Amino acid sequence: MDNRPIGVFDSGVGGLTVLKELKKTLPHEDYIYIGDTASFPYGSKSKDTIIELSRKRIENLIDMDAKMIVIACGTATSQALEEMQKMFNMPIIGIIDPTVKYLKEHDIKNIGIIATVGTIRSKGWEKYINKNIDNANIINKACPLLAPMAEEGWTENEIAKLTIHEYLKEIDNKSIDALILGCTHYPLFKGLIEKELGENIEIINTGEMVAKELKKYITERKIENSKTNESNLNIYLTDIECNFLNVAKKLLENEDIEIKKFNN
Ligand code: DGL
Repeated sequence: MDNRPIGVFDSGVGGLTVLKELKKTLPHEDYIYIGDTASFPYGSKSKDTIIELSRKRIENLIDMDAKMIVIACGTATSQALEEMQKMFNMPIIGIIDPTVKYLKEHDIKNIGIIATVGTIRSKGWEKYINKNIDNANIINKACPLLAPMAEEGWTENEIAKLTIHEYLKEIDNKSIDALILGCTHYPLFKGLIEKELGENIEIINTGEMVAKELKKYITERKIENSKTNESNLNIYLTDIECNFLNVAKKLLENEDIEIKKFNN
């Protein structure tokens, strides 16, 4: 048993789509979430900057006594996970490995990926998929406007609909079997994406895969939280002048959420 919290971070609201799945799958764990809103967006930054920001956020979570770290961000997973695993002597998981395990288990080979510019540029998903799945057929598309729109809460309006159409119109829905939402902000657009692509393509929310993997990890190592009742969630933002709280309340279906300003 280990009653310390699980540390989770992202550049903003996106990582909450992962946190939501973690809370569903591991309801008795405590969580600390850092939204690095002062540095949002991560998606357009260089690899060196992403490594530096990830290092700082992980140090913050360790200072707050996290027992392990979930990088709930595709951009930071694809560009900084390996470096972070070498740098810190603690369990750190990202969103790529659990998702690729799922693809392999379900023999999915025709794969689409949508993500930030940084993630697509890094080829992090392709490298990992090709290492683990033979003859994978991968197409990808950067969708840089989606994360800022999600921060604004524009995930269901006409502008979101047109933007999704514009980004996905070239994806031939006969050429892929699954579309990975390679940025954790994108599950907020899942409804519109499903409408745009039709029913035959499985839309993969990486948070669900991360939650399954984390549960396995924690159970195997017997480091579950021994509590059987409520779970504590502490949310910190590096800048609070943003729309985070409104999006968080809606996504986590909890009106009582509070956020604290984090001095980094
Ligand atoms: N949620 C992030 C990701 O998964 C980052 C989006 C951004 O900050 O640009 O890539």
